[in-house]
Amino acid sequence: MQNISKIINGKQYAENLLKEIFPLSNHYSKKFLRNPCLAVLLVGEDPASKIYVKNKILTAEKNNITSVEIKLPIDTSEEHLLNEIYKLNKDTNVDGILVQLPLPLHISEKLIIQSINPSKDVDGFHPINFGKLLMGDPDFVPCTPLGCFYMLKKELNELDGKNVVIIGRSNIVGKPMASLLLSSNCTVTVTHSKTKNLKEHCSDADILISAIGKPEMIDDTYIKPNAIIIDVGINRLKLENAKTNEKKYKLVGDINFESVINVSQKITPVPGGVGPMTIACLMHNTVKAAFLNKNEKFVNII
Ligand code: GUN
Repeated sequence: MQNISKIINGKQYAENLLKEIFPLSNHYSKKFLRNPCLAVLLVGEDPASKIYVKNKILTAEKNNITSVEIKLPIDTSEEHLLNEIYKLNKDTNVDGILVQLPLPLHISEKLIIQSINPSKDVDGFHPINFGKLLMGDPDFVPCTPLGCFYMLKKELNELDGKNVVIIGRSNIVGKPMASLLLSSNCTVTVTHSKTKNLKEHCSDADILISAIGKPEMIDDTYIKPNAIIIDVGINRLKLENAKTNEKKYKLVGDINFESVINVSQKITPVPGGVGPMTIACLMHNTVKAAFLNKNEKFVNII
């Protein structure tokens, strides 16, 4: 049976964070006579990316943040996308710029990320923001790790000395997550597809963070009893009814939730865990960018 007290409710945490951000965006609007503004660029028709972008725009609207959505066809040239970004970089009414990833293969993600003005890089992917995070002096922290970090700080009084194992070494999650936790005095192990004895590493983790994109790969045999589990994976499983041929999709994480919930101390569900926090952190970074770009002080909430 599911034990609700073991669930880390990301949806609730996201609502709490947005409640703190709302008065700040309101204050900004009164002072500068416009809302903080986020530009979101989407190239192509990837169904998951379309849903993520829609949710980002809807959340912005609800939180007094103006959004500009720029949808471009899949065959958009790199040059055209760079031009769009240069226009947004120059536009003093735009505070944050987000290019939804992944991009089509003919466009260099590296080049695109580097073309965004670091002071508008609300994803925190630009090398300058990445470097500042690594040095322990961040401006903009990538939204997914920032959301995980927020929940961990709320759940645990103390992060000092905790053994953390991260599965996945991406620039979007694994690497920035490691950097944040290292700065909070955790002992961090980053594992990946070539790691030997993954189970052995995981079974030593007080905190296990999985971002590998392998549906329900991690079961209770990987888990140290009483560990905290953060599941970053969002995998769409296709369920087909053999009789009716009807297809349905189910969202699952990297963690086998039913297997792990009984042995762990607490766990984030999918959906309703990390996903809503990622979007709330994007709102946080956008409002922060809006204040900083007017040379106004912004006291970090996270
Ligand atoms: N694709 C998956 N996650 C993200 C994210 O956090 N930001 C952007 N821009 N693209 C993504």
